[in-house]
Amino acid sequence: MTSRIITPADSFTRKVATPGDKSISHRALMLSAMANGTSTIRGLSRGEDVGRTATIMAQLGAHIQSSGNEVTVTGPAAGLRATSEALYCGNSGTTIRLLLGILSGIEGHHRITGDASLSRRPMDRVATPLGLMGIQITGQGTTVTPPLEQIGLSSTRAISYEMPRASAQVKSAVLFAGLYADGTTTVSENIRTRTSTEEMFEYAGISISSANQGEGRIVSVTPGRPEPRIWNVPGDPSQAAFFVVAGLLHPHGDVRIDEIYAGVERLGYLEVLSRMGGAIVKSPTDLGLRLSIRSSQLRGTTIYSHEIPSVDEVPALVVAACAAEGDTKFVEMAELRIKESDRFAESVLLAQRLGSKVEVEGDNFTVTGQGSASSFLHFEFEAPDDHRMAMAAAIAAYCGQGGVVHGAESVETSFPGFFEILMGAS
Ligand code: S3P
Repeated sequence: MTSRIITPADSFTRKVATPGDKSISHRALMLSAMANGTSTIRGLSRGEDVGRTATIMAQLGAHIQSSGNEVTVTGPAAGLRATSEALYCGNSGTTIRLLLGILSGIEGHHRITGDASLSRRPMDRVATPLGLMGIQITGQGTTVTPPLEQIGLSSTRAISYEMPRASAQVKSAVLFAGLYADGTTTVSENIRTRTSTEEMFEYAGISISSANQGEGRIVSVTPGRPEPRIWNVPGDPSQAAFFVVAGLLHPHGDVRIDEIYAGVERLGYLEVLSRMGGAIVKSPTDLGLRLSIRSSQLRGTTIYSHEIPSVDEVPALVVAACAAEGDTKFVEMAELRIKESDRFAESVLLAQRLGSKVEVEGDNFTVTGQGSASSFLHFEFEAPDDHRMAMAAAIAAYCGQGGVVHGAESVETSFPGFFEILMGAS
């Protein structure tokens, strides 16, 4: 386990280029590998999670080459094929869940594995709809945790699926499996989740449509094979969140963030931080948004999970809440418990380590802010399996009184170079 000692500094002026968006990077590799021909991906995330997807696409028959900022992917003319090797997804929930959709239409027997953290995460949420499509997936226990066995078929059964809880990964797995179906597959969600799959399917020539339905959406896909494309991957807004919060909390914060993807479902945390009093300026660019952030006095608020679908930015928002004046209530946060770690428990623990009072009530918790990051305690925190908890702890230490992050290697899954940018060494 790697430990990072974080020492605060007097000023925090940074120009941050976040890695290529992780959701888009996984999907660009997958769609390119499924296509007949060569695609080019620019700005692909170099994190380990996306690397797992690349390795698996190569195991299934794609040819992948990297040169500078460009990756070329050639999908085999006859399509991807099964392998007797285990497909190792490491720490990556997006890799495994989307892969289950893709493997549904690759005839044969597939074995899918992951690291200790992924092997605790539920796959029944994907196995259930894919089961309705005629695909058998078996795993461990009632929640179907990895290692998994899957039987892929040459075609799947088209379904209409209403997701019991909003999840972009589940929606995407069903849409991928729908590419091999015997008719139109429809998925509906009660809360809008990120739309990268829909946008990227359309760009790859797949016939897909979506319509609003109450607070959510209904998406329909007709079977087809993606076409090769040039993909330009914008920066990752969820990785930017750590530097946005650090820029607000540091007493001398002045942070600029290069172009990030601007899908509305990914930017809820910026709205939350703005209403907490954060000085955040957004400027539109070709592929998304640029941000500039200045030190700000934050005040408490109430944050509902539907404002930040997928809840990826909650660990960073918890650090913001600890520095705010007054209480911040996090509402309906059950999904946090089944991320790379139990982020519900870990977020509460991190806030307590910083010296904040936290009250837990069912799936909600309330953080009493300390008024500023300078009141944080010096602390130690362990995050061996969870990149986002490690990065949240790191910014808290840097903007507060310093600290030690154990398990700092987890950051490599999504943000190589994160510590160098934070500590001003890059
Ligand atoms: C992702 C979906 C998310 C999110 C993850 C990436 C995706 O989860 O947490 O980091 O790329 O589809 P949900 O499936 O809970 O929406």
